[in-house]
Formats: sequence, structure tokens, C-alpha cells
Amino acid sequence: MRTEPLARKHDRASFSCGVPALDDYLKSYALQNAKNHSAATFVLVADDSRTIRGFYSLTSRHVLLDELPDEIRPRLPKYPEVGATLIGRLAVNIAYQGQGIGRLLVMDALDRCIRAAAEVASALILVDAKDPAAAEFYLACGFTPFKGIPDRLFITTRQTAEILKQAGTS
Ligand SMILES: CC(C)(COP(=O)(O)OP(=O)(O)OC[C@H]1O[C@@H](n2cnc3c(N)ncnc32)[C@H](O)[C@@H]1OP(=O)(O)O)[C@@H](O)C(=O)NCCC(=O)NCCS
Repeated sequence: MRTEPLARKHDRASFSCGVPALDDYLKSYALQNAKNHSAATFVLVADDSRTIRGFYSLTSRHVLLDELPDEIRPRLPKYPEVGATLIGRLAVNIAYQGQGIGRLLVMDALDRCIRAAAEVASALILVDAKDPAAAEFYLACGFTPFKGIPDRLFITTRQTAEILKQAGTS
């Protein structure tokens, strides 16, 4: 299995993760958003290269350091806000859920973010969990909630290298 940028050859129509808003995003908006550079989407495919097992999208953001837990701030730049990369959407095809693919997608996204941050600095990687179960999933992947915002979570780019090492992907 490998991830690659979403393209017309991928079968978006048959993708279903059980959350219509995420399916619709992939079907109707993801390619357009890649074209206009508002979000880049990557799909996980296997040998046939068409069937999408999962996907995620990445977008640039900035974060006010005041929103982060106090203990993390000494390890970040001393500016009021820092650059961040948002994993805006992430979903696994329902036929493949519960087999470690969600975690694999997160690790792939983190790997991509850390490589991009070497060229254009980004201090944090963010996710917005759509419900408490999604927040649990991201906690299991090593993310930490924002101060008082349990459905917005982050990992510092610095922590990412350690997480990828533990996951055996770098
Ligand atoms: C959430 C989702 C991405 C998880 O993908 P998955 O392939 O089923 O998850 P994995 O098998 O990789 O599980 C990874 C870890 O997260 C945990 N996890 C997975 N789904 C979970 C859930 N719904 N609630 C709590 N924990 C969950 C697993 O127990 C596992 O933890 P462990 O390794 O400590 O045992 C997938 O269920 C999905 O696409 N759901 C619909 C869309 C969605 O909710 N996206 C979330 C972004 S808003």
C-alpha cells in the first residue's frame, strides 16, 4: 500500500467511510481544493491504484500559542503565533476500518508534514476531531488536546520525529 496525491484516476465514487460529509468532500471538493491550493489530499491505494482505502488532506494554518497547554510553550518559538499544518480531513473506507489503516494514514501524514516543515517551517500539526470517538482515535495516535478545546488536538513537529521513530516509519 502507498499514499499518493488524489488524481482523476482514483475511484472517488465508491469510497464510503460512514460519514457522508467526509465522503462528499472526497467526491465533490477534494480535487478542486487541490487545484486551487486550499488543501492537498492524499489517498491510500493498493495494487489496483484505483480503490481508495483511506485519505487525508493537509492545509496551512497558524495557531495562537496562548491556546496551547502551558507546559508545551517553552519548547516552541517565542512568538504570539506559529505556523501549523492542519490534517483537515482523514477517513478510512468502511471495509478497511479497525485494521490499523487510520493509524497508518496519521503516520503517513506526520511523515509528510515533517518533510514539508524542513522546507517551510511549521511548528505544529493539528487535527479537528469531528466527535469524541474521533478525538479518542487521535489521542491513541499521540495527539494532545488544546487548552479547553477537546476536539482540537496537536502534536509538535519536534514530537513527530519521536512518534514516527516509535512507529518504525522513519
Ligand atoms: C476514525 C477512523 C479514521 C479510524 O480508522 P481505523 O482504521 O478504523 O483505526 P485504526 O484501526 O488505525 O485504530 C488506531 C487506534 O485508534 C483507536 N480507534 C479507532 N477508532 C476509534 C474510535 N472510533 N474510537 C476510539 N478509538 C478508536 C483504535 O482502538 C486504535 O488504538 P490502539 O492502536 O491503541 O488499539 C475511521 O474509523 C474512520 O474513517 N471513521 C469515519 C471518519 C472519521 O471519524 N474520521 C476522523 C477524523 S474527524
